[in-house]
Amino acid sequence: METGQVKHHQADGFKFEPPRKNVTWLVCDMVEKPSRVAQLMGEWIIERWAKEAIFNLKLPMKNRYEEVKEDIDNLRIFLRDNGVRYEMKAKHLYHDREEITIHLRRIN
Ligand SMILES: C[S@@+](CC[C@H](N)C(=O)[O-])C[C@H]1O[C@@H](n2cnc3c(N)ncnc32)[C@H](O)[C@@H]1O
Repeated sequence: METGQVKHHQADGFKFEPPRKNVTWLVCDMVEKPSRVAQLMGEWIIERWAKEAIFNLKLPMKNRYEEVKEDIDNLRIFLRDNGVRYEMKAKHLYHDREEITIHLRRIN
């Protein structure tokens, strides 16, 4: 914060619209249902508000693999249906036991 390069907006991440739509990296670590976060990341990329996103999908208590797989599959369908070409990688990082970390990059 001391660098002056950070502007803090106190807002609901699901309602926030960036004032300038030239974001390079969207970083999202909100504690929310993974399906909602995946959908939100898709919207930012589809709208071209951000070029790339790195985000966590918090693992639910039950059916963890099935839930996250479904969320990622739905995100792929959402992107494809909106004509987005992309690269996406998902990792279960060693120190992040309760979440899956995803990097999504638009390439068209
Ligand atoms: C795991 S913490 C993030 C920690 C952060 N990555 C850090 O290093 O400080 C999750 C945060 O998500 C925030 N959060 C949850 N839902 C939100 C929403 N709808 N809008 C904005 N922030 C939200 C919570 O307030 C909490 O601070």
